Amino acid sequence: MKVVIPGGTGQVGGILRRALAAAGHEVTVLSRRAAGAGEIRWDGETLGDWVEALDGSDVVINLAGRNVGCRYSDANLQEMMDSRVRSARVVGEAIAAVSHPPRVWLQASTATIYAHRFDAANDETTGVIGGAEPGVPDYWAFSVDIAKCWERAQEQAYTPHTRKVALRSAMVMSPDRGGVFDVLLWLARLGLGGSVGGGAQYVSWIHERDFVRAVEFLIERDDLAGPVNLAAPEPLPQRSFMRALRDAWGMPIGVPATKWMAEIGAFALRVDTELLLKSRRVVPARLRAAGFAFDHPTWPEAARTLTHQVRTTRTG
Ligand SMILES: NC(=O)c1ccc[n+]([C@@H]2O[C@H](COP(=O)([O-])OP(=O)(O)OC[C@H]3O[C@@H](n4cnc5c(N)ncnc54)[C@H](OP(=O)(O)O)[C@@H]3O)[C@@H](O)[C@H]2O)c1
Repeated sequence: MKVVIPGGTGQVGGILRRALAAAGHEVTVLSRRAAGAGEIRWDGETLGDWVEALDGSDVVINLAGRNVGCRYSDANLQEMMDSRVRSARVVGEAIAAVSHPPRVWLQASTATIYAHRFDAANDETTGVIGGAEPGVPDYWAFSVDIAKCWERAQEQAYTPHTRKVALRSAMVMSPDRGGVFDVLLWLARLGLGGSVGGGAQYVSWIHERDFVRAVEFLIERDDLAGPVNLAAPEPLPQRSFMRALRDAWGMPIGVPATKWMAEIGAFALRVDTELLLKSRRVVPARLRAAGFAFDHPTWPEAARTLTHQVRTTRTG
C-alpha cells in the first residue's frame, strides 16, 4: 500500500513508519521540515504541491499537531488547537481535491476527550465526553475542546470515497528514547516513580505493537468508521501502574508525590499537571467487538516486555 503520514516525524509517526515500511508498504511523511527520503514538505495548514502525494495513495494517517508535552499556557493551548484543527481540515481538503483519493483516512484524536472519572470506564458508546466535570481545574476543559474540534474537522470534511476513522488513542508505550515510556521509566529509575496526588487516577495506555496492529486492523476493516478507542483493555490506577513499572525494572523505591510536589515536578519537566492528574479510564469496546485481540492486554506484562527491550537495546 501507499501510505501517507502527515506529521509522521514524531513519536507515533516513528513507530508507524518503522512498522509499515517493514511490512513492505511505501510510506511518505509530510513534515514542515522535510529533510530525508520519503519526506515531503507541507505547512500543515494550506494546500500545496504536497497534495499530489495523496493522489493514488491507499491510506492517510494524519498525526500532525503541536506536542502536548508542554506547559498549558494560553499560547500553547491555542497552538495545540490550531495545529490540530488546521491540519485535519487541510488533509480533508486535499483528499477532496485529488482524483484518486485514499480508501481510508485515519485521523489522530485522543483518549483525553473523555471525562475525568473513576467510577466506570469510557467506551465509544456509553463513555462520557469531558469538559463539564466538577472539581477539576477549568482549563482542563480546553484539552477536551481541542479533541472535539479536532474530530469535528474530520467529520465535516467531504470525502465521499474515503472512510474516516478517529483514533482516540491512549499513551503509546514504546522503548524509544524520548517517548512517554522512556520518561516514566527514567522517573522510576530515579526512585521518583511513586503515586502522584494519591494515585487513584486511572492511566490508559497501549503497547506500540498493539497500536500498530490496531491501525492495520482499522485499515483493513471497511465496516469500521468514526471514533475508535485505541487503549489496552485494562487501564489501572496510577499508583498500581507505577508500581508495576518499578517491579518490572527492579526498583524497590518510588517516592510518592502530593499534588503540590507534582506541580513542582511538572514545572521542572515543562509539562502540565493535567497529564499526571486527569483520570483517563478508557476501554477499546469497538476494537474488541470487531474481533481485535491484544498482544499486550495487561500492564505488568507489557511493562516487563518494554523494560526488557530497553535493557537489551541500550547496553551500558
Ligand atoms: N504519543 C502518544 O502516546 C499519543 C497518544 C494519543 C494521541 N496522540 C496524538 O497523536 C499525534 C502524534 O503523536 P506524537 O506523540 O507522535 O506527537 P509528536 O511527537 O509531537 O509529533 C507530531 C508531529 O506533528 C507535527 N507538528 C507539530 N506542530 C505542528 C504544527 N504547528 N503544524 C503542523 N504540524 C505540526 C510535527 O512534525 P514536523 O515538525 O515534522 O512538521 C511533529 O513531528 C499527536 O497529534 C498526538 O496528540 C499521541
